[in-house]
Amino acid sequence: MDDLRNKYLAAIADAADEAALEELRVKAVGKKGEVSLKMRELGKMSPEERQTAGPALNALKDEINSALAGKKAALSDAALDARLRTEWLDVTLAGRPRRQGTIHPISQATEEVTAIFADLGFSVAEGPQVDSDWYNFDALNIPGHHPARAEMDTFYMARVEGDNRPPHVLRTHTSPVQIRSMEAHGAPIRIIAPGRVYRADYDQTHTPMFNQVEGLAVDTDISMANLKWCLEEFVKAFFEVDGVELRFRASHFPFTEPSAEVDIRCSWEGGTLKVGEGDDWLEILGSGMVHPKVLQAGGIDPAVYQGFAFGVGIDRIAMLKYGIPDLRAFFDSDLRWLRHYGFSSLDVPTLHGGLSR
Ligand code: DAH
Repeated sequence: MDDLRNKYLAAIADAADEAALEELRVKAVGKKGEVSLKMRELGKMSPEERQTAGPALNALKDEINSALAGKKAALSDAALDARLRTEWLDVTLAGRPRRQGTIHPISQATEEVTAIFADLGFSVAEGPQVDSDWYNFDALNIPGHHPARAEMDTFYMARVEGDNRPPHVLRTHTSPVQIRSMEAHGAPIRIIAPGRVYRADYDQTHTPMFNQVEGLAVDTDISMANLKWCLEEFVKAFFEVDGVELRFRASHFPFTEPSAEVDIRCSWEGGTLKVGEGDDWLEILGSGMVHPKVLQAGGIDPAVYQGFAFGVGIDRIAMLKYGIPDLRAFFDSDLRWLRHYGFSSLDVPTLHGGLSR
């Protein structure tokens, strides 16, 4: 009996898994197990022998059963431990930075322009993208026959049946916001108006929808000198360069007199554009002194007030600043492009904190 005990207790202690344990249980205490067979022999014994062997065999059976149960519990504890070790998770670790959306370079450039002009005392004005023929053209001194109308490749809205007024248009520039702002606030006034504009044109530098920012300052002693200073301050701040040279070229717009187009000194060495140095000039905006008829259309007396105005292509200056070669990419919604050229939503452009870190 001692041999049996030693043999099974040792084997149970060494069992590697539950299958091995089950095999041992069958061999020892199963129906035809060694211990069970010994118990059957009790019938052939004398009553005296049975009195000692019977309880001893029962005790042995109990001992083996409890060793089996103990080992089974130990094995399942070990299995659980192993699983806990592999599925261990340190919840105190810092989160993994998962990059989500980014700020589109046009939104970024718009925020930058807004921050710069806010610092110069301009507030932001807005107007509708579908506007009347009057706001988009007539009020800006572009009458029906004027060639500028044809040059703007205008998208017209469908004409309302029975209505013989000219149809509304998708605004071809942000200049109508000048009129709306003068009507709403009178003079003096200082506003910029960023927003979408539309023209039927499509190539590497033109898309049917693009963005402009209009500027307007009206007061009793405004001159071309104020315009020049403001634009120089703006360009220096926007391109984040100190020595920037602008060239004012006489031009013509129906809504300004005199008018000037503004070029910025740049170089194209090695195919990359550098602003502020070199022998090339790049046109970036149109500007001038607001035409008296335009002031009048906005309800302001041109005998008392003068103003300057300008219009900049936001996409254009964003392309220049961030080295984006094709305008059309702005509107392709290509995720790889957006991740490459996008800005962190937490870096809000400010003049003191840096516009485009
Ligand atoms: N509206 C013009 C355009 O779309 C840009 C412009 C030129 C705006 C001169 C102005 C200005 O305010 O004075 O091309």
